[in-house]
Amino acid sequence: MRKSFVAGNWKMHGTQQSASALLSNIITDSASLKDACEIAVFPPFVHLPLCQTQLSQTRIRYGAQTLSEHPDGAYTGEISASMLRDLGCRYVIIGHSERRQYLNETNALIAKKCISAVNAGLVPILCIGETLHERENALMLSVVQEQLEVVAILKDNCTAFHEIVIAYEPVWAIGTGLSASPEQAQQVHAFIRSSLMEIDSVLSEQTRIVYGGSVKPNNAKALFEMEDIDGALVGGASLDAKNFITIAKACE
Ligand code: PGA
Repeated sequence: MRKSFVAGNWKMHGTQQSASALLSNIITDSASLKDACEIAVFPPFVHLPLCQTQLSQTRIRYGAQTLSEHPDGAYTGEISASMLRDLGCRYVIIGHSERRQYLNETNALIAKKCISAVNAGLVPILCIGETLHERENALMLSVVQEQLEVVAILKDNCTAFHEIVIAYEPVWAIGTGLSASPEQAQQVHAFIRSSLMEIDSVLSEQTRIVYGGSVKPNNAKALFEMEDIDGALVGGASLDAKNFITIAKACE
């Protein structure tokens, strides 16, 4: 049985004060949440110490939005996997489409980042998904398949490769208010699960494949009813505790 997972990607939002208040509200609102759904938040790096202080006695997990592929060294401005572990992170988002698009992150770099994360004991949330142009040109499944090669590289390099989360996030659905329909998402999720089967059968069975792209309280339930959708990576709606917890409740 895969435990559902709802993660909030805060992106580059929040002051210490607003981040702390959001964490407090999520703690309060999550009290009524059943154990069937795991929740996690992903604030900017600078707010991770707040998570360590405020979330340590709660069931809410947290992580970072990216990390360096290097374990340590002269890499000005970078943050390593072990630094994130030191702050109590369990997860790290890797390969988000905004980083692929604006920071030129390639599948090769993303694979290195996943290896660094796993080697330090972090669980990578590998983001994959096609652009509108790729979908319209029938390249959707081949792009997703290519992005999944990262998982095969991870398997070849790490013995502890079994614990990962995949986030299917069609680029055209992110921040646009235009979510994929449950059927559109399920089609790709089922494809991802069958592609994982070719890499490793246990991985295919165990891996949570979450959907991301304009998930809101009003569309979450229909998405979660799909067989291969195990939760969500939520952007905009995760900046409001009530919306975020309402989405998590839809997952129970
Ligand atoms: P969104 O973002 O929910 O605002 O569309 C999702 C994401 O980028 O992870």
